[in-house]
Amino acid sequence: MGRGIAQVAAQSGFAVLLSDQSRPIVEAALQAIDSSLLRQVEKGKLPASDRAEALGRIRPAVEPPAMSGADFVIEAIGEDRALKSRVFATLDGICRPGVILASNTSSLSITKIAAATRRPDRVIGMHFMNPVPVMELVEIVAGQSTSKETIETTRGLAKSLGKTSVAAQDYPGFISNRVLMPMINEAIYALHEGVGSREDIDTVMRLGMRHPMGPLALADFIGLDTCLAILEVLHDGFGDPKYRPCPLLRRMVDAGLLGKKSGRGFYEYGAQGTPR
Ligand code: CAA
Repeated sequence: MGRGIAQVAAQSGFAVLLSDQSRPIVEAALQAIDSSLLRQVEKGKLPASDRAEALGRIRPAVEPPAMSGADFVIEAIGEDRALKSRVFATLDGICRPGVILASNTSSLSITKIAAATRRPDRVIGMHFMNPVPVMELVEIVAGQSTSKETIETTRGLAKSLGKTSVAAQDYPGFISNRVLMPMINEAIYALHEGVGSREDIDTVMRLGMRHPMGPLALADFIGLDTCLAILEVLHDGFGDPKYRPCPLLRRMVDAGLLGKKSGRGFYEYGAQGTPR
């Protein structure tokens, strides 16, 4: 997600500081962004000169202090609340006062993440969809203390990135995953109970409901570990058994079958992440 967000920001004319745990990870991200830009050039959707210009706007910023130059921060680490709180506390100490710290969390409480900082009015959810360069939506989530000014600035940024934003309240899963994950979980239950094969379940939703991908293929695309983490946030947050993650999902995550990123989930994938 971070790569996609960096790419879209650079293509929209912003100078980007791209941070990750190590230089090789940042370099791999830059390569992936370059390949994605190259695909757009090859399809005639992007002038070749724009590819170099966009890439030239992204600067690696591996060590956290490098983020002191940022005017707006978008965090896109994994769905781990304790880790996010640590990262936000660090950013709070590094970034100038007034800088907005946004989280690309797909389900976690913005209010809790904001509580790790001394600027809860300047902490907000900015939830992008995958693949970021293609999907038009950004879900903007205000925490308990997020100021109106922070919301307006973030909406403006989403617009500058060519996205349509919606406002969601800070409840588990917001709007997107409150609606999406129960559908994915139910598709996994249908597979688990033998209601249909993986192909038939996905075909029903693709051809019957015109979804671009079936829910099992989509779960592989999102990552089964991420789906499980989101379902657990919904289950714990609402205390409602309707969000209980399917035991098959849990077992697959335990087995390291995480979907496209691990090469196998409900489907099998080749080296480039293409279905086999
Ligand atoms: N980066 C940039 N562009 C990409 C891309 C990527 N990673 N993947 C696909 N594209 C582009 C392609 O270049 C192509 O562009 P053009 O039409 O301009 O040529 C376009 O997307 C369509 O791609 P393909 O023809 O290769 O494949 P497709 O038609 O099967 O579409 C898809 C692929 C866009 C992923 C489509 O299947 C889709 O929309 N799937 C649903 C995705 C979805 O639901 N995303 C949200 C997931 S939930 C989430 O992200 C948040 C969360 O909290 C869990």
